[in-house]
Amino acid sequence: MRKRSRYKLLEYFAIAGLITFVVILVFNSTIRPSLPKKTPAPKELYNVISPSTYKFILNQPELCENISPFLVLVIPVTLKDTEARTAIRRTWGQDGLIPRVTILHLFVIGQPAQRDPVLQEHLEKESKEYGDIIQMDFVDSYHNLTIKTMMIMNWIATYCQGAWYAMKIDADIFLNVRYLVDYLHDQSKSSRKDYITGSVISDAVPHRDSFNKWYISEGLYPDSWYPPYVSGAAYVFSTDLARKISWASRFVRPIPLEDVYVGLCLHVLGVKPVYATKFLGFRNLFEVRRLKYERCTFAKRIIVNGFNPQNLLRIWHDFQKSYFTC
Ligand SMILES: *[C@@H]1O[C@H](CO)[C@@H](O)[C@H](O)[C@H]1NC(C)=O
Repeated sequence: MRKRSRYKLLEYFAIAGLITFVVILVFNSTIRPSLPKKTPAPKELYNVISPSTYKFILNQPELCENISPFLVLVIPVTLKDTEARTAIRRTWGQDGLIPRVTILHLFVIGQPAQRDPVLQEHLEKESKEYGDIIQMDFVDSYHNLTIKTMMIMNWIATYCQGAWYAMKIDADIFLNVRYLVDYLHDQSKSSRKDYITGSVISDAVPHRDSFNKWYISEGLYPDSWYPPYVSGAAYVFSTDLARKISWASRFVRPIPLEDVYVGLCLHVLGVKPVYATKFLGFRNLFEVRRLKYERCTFAKRIIVNGFNPQNLLRIWHDFQKSYFTC
C-alpha cells in the first residue's frame, strides 16, 4: 500500500511536470510567435535601405586609412544643424581629448526635402575645413532615419573596419568620453566581436495607436513583439557588427523605427545587446532620461540625453574638472 502510494506520488509529479512543460511551451509560443525567418526581403523593399540606391555628395574615404582608431563617433545630423556640429567639435567630439587614444568623429547628413543651395555651399566649405562630414542623397526626415542608420553601418563596413568600436550618437546628447573609453577597456576580450551595448529595451511591443510617435501598422510589422534593441539615442558596437548588420538587413523589411530595425537585424544574427549598467544594474550608464546637471553625477554616466548646443557648451568647461574632483 505504501509503495503503491509512493508510485502514485511519482505519477502525479510526472503529470504535473508534463503539464508545466506543455504550458510553458504554449505560453512561450503565444508570446513569441513567428520569429523573423531568414528569407530575403522583396527587392523593391530592400532597395529602400540598400547602399547601392544612394550616392555620396560628400565623403571622407580616407578618414580611417592607415590608422586603427579605438573609437569612431558617428553623429546623424541635418544640413541646418551647424550650431550642433560646432558645439560637438568643441566638446565631446574634439580631437585629442583622451591622450593616446585615437577617437574620430563623423557627421552623417542626407538632403533637405527642399533644396537649399546657400546652406549646401556652407556645408561644403565646412566639410573642407574639418573633414568630418559625409552626405548622401536620400531625403533627411524622421521616417528616413532607418536609411541613415544603414548608411552609417555601410560606411563603417566599407571605410573604417580597422576601428575597434563605433558609436552611433545623436547630436543632442552629452557624452562622457573618458568614462566610455575606460568602460570599453574594462570589458572582456569577447567585447571585440558581436558586441553592442547601450540602454537595452526588452519586451517592447509595437504601438498600434496611429497618434503615437512610434506607431507602426500591422501591415508593416505584423508581429506582436520586438526583439531586444538598444535605444537609438546612443549605442556602441564592435565594428565587425557594421558589416554583419548590413548583411542581415537583406532579410529584414525596412520599418521607420531605426533602433528597432537594428534590433531586428541583431535578432537575425543571434546577437544579444548588452545593457550598460553599474552596481547590479542600479546605475544605467546610458541615461536616456534627462538629468539635471551635476558634475559628479554626470561623471558616472556614459551619456545623458537632452542637450541643446548652448547647454552642452555651458556645462563642458565645468565638467572637465570632474576627473579630479569626483
Ligand atoms: C526618404 O528618402 C527617399 C529617398 O530620398 C525619399 O524618396 C522619401 O520621400 C523619403 N521619405 C520621407 C518620409 O521623407
